[in-house]
Amino acid sequence: MRHFFRRRGELYCEEVPLRAIAEAVGTPTYVYSRATLERHFRAVDRALGPAPHLVCYSVKACGNLAVLALLRRLGSGFDVVSGGELRRVLQAGGDPARVVFSGVGKTDDEIALGLRAGILCFNVEGEQELSAVAAVAARLRKVAPVALRVNPDVDAKTHPYVATALAQSKFGVPLRRARAIYRAIARCPSLRAVGLDCHLGSQIESLAPFEAAASRLRRLLEELAADGHRLEHVDLGGGLGVPYGREQPPSPRQWADALRRALGPSRLRLVVEPGRVIAANAGALLTRVLYRKRGAARAFAVVDAGMNDLLRPALYGSVHALEPVGRPTRRKVVLDVVGPVCESGDFLARRTRVDDLGPGDLWAVMTAGAYGFSMASSYNSRPRPAEVLVDGRRFDVVRDRENPRDLWRGEHIPEDLKP
Ligand code: LLP
Repeated sequence: MRHFFRRRGELYCEEVPLRAIAEAVGTPTYVYSRATLERHFRAVDRALGPAPHLVCYSVKACGNLAVLALLRRLGSGFDVVSGGELRRVLQAGGDPARVVFSGVGKTDDEIALGLRAGILCFNVEGEQELSAVAAVAARLRKVAPVALRVNPDVDAKTHPYVATALAQSKFGVPLRRARAIYRAIARCPSLRAVGLDCHLGSQIESLAPFEAAASRLRRLLEELAADGHRLEHVDLGGGLGVPYGREQPPSPRQWADALRRALGPSRLRLVVEPGRVIAANAGALLTRVLYRKRGAARAFAVVDAGMNDLLRPALYGSVHALEPVGRPTRRKVVLDVVGPVCESGDFLARRTRVDDLGPGDLWAVMTAGAYGFSMASSYNSRPRPAEVLVDGRRFDVVRDRENPRDLWRGEHIPEDLKP
């Protein structure tokens, strides 16, 4: 069941025509389908079966409070990578006991925030960070639950910017140092080893990297058990890819089965941190055509969403399908669809065959629910877009479009320069 579909030629999200949202809220606007978010979460949760597991939705993919509150209601835990993300989860009513805190650069303040909140686990990425967690916990008279994020040296065959488990990447610690680190954890009174963690990268389109990583972790888990460590969970991160176009990534079920198979029989709770597979196809970015123009070599559609609103094409060369919100045109044209930002990297699509839309017409940039709004900025002093959550026949603005005042909130002009 797809929740973005055409009815009498017009593009809908659930029971709401996207045109109605563009008219009511303006553009650019991110639109999320509640039914899709629910379906995706349940697909992942069910795929992990009856054995003990926890789905920790990766907040960085799309951290709107409404989305977090919805997932919390479905029983989701959360993967956070900053104090800000942890605060978002708490603000949305998320259960701290279902939060894992990843990331290579946690500050003392962020560690303290996690300890005070009572999170499930810090995914620790290095020896110095481990000392920092131990010290903050000792100061707060707490025992910090930790998992070591290991780097299994697996090529996830994805964009180099989002591959995180190569020998040269900054994430985790090499497998061979893990046993010594767990021994150090066991000796430290303010630390408690509760798990083992890894994350391979993002938009992974085959099972092989997951299988390779899980079987390396399995071996390490056996060694750690032999060393006397009593862990409670193993966290295999996120990373499952989604179809943006013709990609055919494994299904959540295939992914979960492969993880379980490679890990072998185990009493450990399996934790996963999916982001994209839950949010990406649940969202679209609505944008309006401002102008058509012809350069010397290319034809352009200039739209009102730019790289500040959706950075993925500019940063990774990602391809997002463009669907006309109105009836598709008979004639198709080859265009560069570009934004208003003053950079040549500001494009949503290049040399792409699309509908022949003109000024005032609307496009939906598909599969934009993950790493869309969450990577948006106000570059060029462009207010960040609105976000809308559709639920059947109704839709709610779940984030107001920023207004010009938001652009300079917190800025101050020194006394002698005041106008
Ligand atoms: N866990 C950790 C520790 C992560 O670093 C990430 C993503 C995830 C889970 C979730 O991965 P997912 O299931 O969404 O693949 N901005 C890029 C993606 C960056 C992903 C960073 N880490 C993009 O737009 O493609």
